[in-house]
Amino acid sequence: MHDMGCAITDKALLDVQSLSVHFGSVSDPVRAVDGVDFHIFPGEIVALVGESGSGKSISALSLARLIPEPAGRIVDGRIIFQGLEVLKLKSSELRKLRGARIAYIFQEPATSLNPVYTVGWQIGEAIRLHRKGVKVKAEVAKLLAAVGLPDPARAAGAYPHELSGGMQQRAMIAMALACNPDLLVADEPTTALDVTVQKQILDLLVELREKRGLSILLITHNLGIVANVADRVYVMNNGKIVESGETKTVLRTPQHEYTRKLLKAVPRLHKTA
Ligand SMILES: Nc1ncnc2c1ncn2[C@@H]1O[C@H](COP(=O)(O)OP(=O)(O)OP(=O)(O)O)[C@@H](O)[C@H]1O
Ligand SMILES: [Mg+2]
Repeated sequence: MHDMGCAITDKALLDVQSLSVHFGSVSDPVRAVDGVDFHIFPGEIVALVGESGSGKSISALSLARLIPEPAGRIVDGRIIFQGLEVLKLKSSELRKLRGARIAYIFQEPATSLNPVYTVGWQIGEAIRLHRKGVKVKAEVAKLLAAVGLPDPARAAGAYPHELSGGMQQRAMIAMALACNPDLLVADEPTTALDVTVQKQILDLLVELREKRGLSILLITHNLGIVANVADRVYVMNNGKIVESGETKTVLRTPQHEYTRKLLKAVPRLHKTA
C-alpha cells in the first residue's frame, strides 16, 4: 500500500502522527489528546475547532513541548516539524524551535506582554535574542507597522496598558513575528475582542500569510471564524479528531454529528432574526 504518512511528511511544514497526551494517574489517565493526526503545509491556514476541553490547546502546546509537565505527558506519537523529530530534540534544540520557528499567540495579551516594559522594548528583546545582526529599532518599527498599528513610534514607546485591546493583540502578534517564525499558533486569538476588532485581527492573520508566507494553526471554538479564514479544518471532540477536510467541504457537507452541532452554534449573521 502507498505510504501516505511519508508523502505528507516530505511536503508538510508540520506533520503530527498519533499524538496522545495524558494527564493525571498512569493507571487511569485523562486522555486529553487521544491519537490525533494532523498536518500543515507551508503557507496554509489550518483551523483546529472544538468545544471547551476537547484538547485543542494541549495539542497545540505539544508542538513545541510546552505542556505542563509532569502533570501532562506526551505518551505516544510523532511530531515532525521541518523534518525534525520534535519529541526527540535535545533541550538546546528545543529552545531554538520554541524561540525562532514556532511562535504562539493567546487570547489574553497579558500572558505574552509584560506590563512593566514598553511594547517596543519587548519586541526588541525578542529580536536581540533570536536575530543577531538585525537593526533592532528599525525592525521594531517595521513589525509594528506590519501589524497595522497606525503610529508605530507611539506604540513602541507605550506600555501595554496604554493600548486598547485590539492594539495589544496587534502588538502581541508583532512580538510573535519578531523571531521570524515559520509557524504561528494562534490559540483563540480574538475571543476577548468585540466583533469588529475580531474581524480586523483575522484579516491581519490572512494578510500575514499572504505577505510573509506564514503558516498558521488557528484554534477556535467558533466555526464562523473558520469559514472566513482557514483553508482546511480539523474538528476535535473529546481528544480525537472526528472530521477534517477543506473548510468549504466540511462546512457545506459536515459528515459528523458533532460538526453539525458546532455549526448550529454559529450565529447566522447573514439571516435576519
Ligand atoms: N493542567 C491540566 N491538568 C489536568 N488536566 C488537564 C490540564 N490541562 C488540560 N487538561 C485536560 O485536557 C483536556 C483538554 O484541554 P485543552 O486545554 O486542550 O482544551 P481546549 O480544547 O483548549 O479547551 P478551551 O476551548 O476551553 O481552551 C481538558 O478537558 C482536561 O481534561
Ligand atoms: Mg484552549
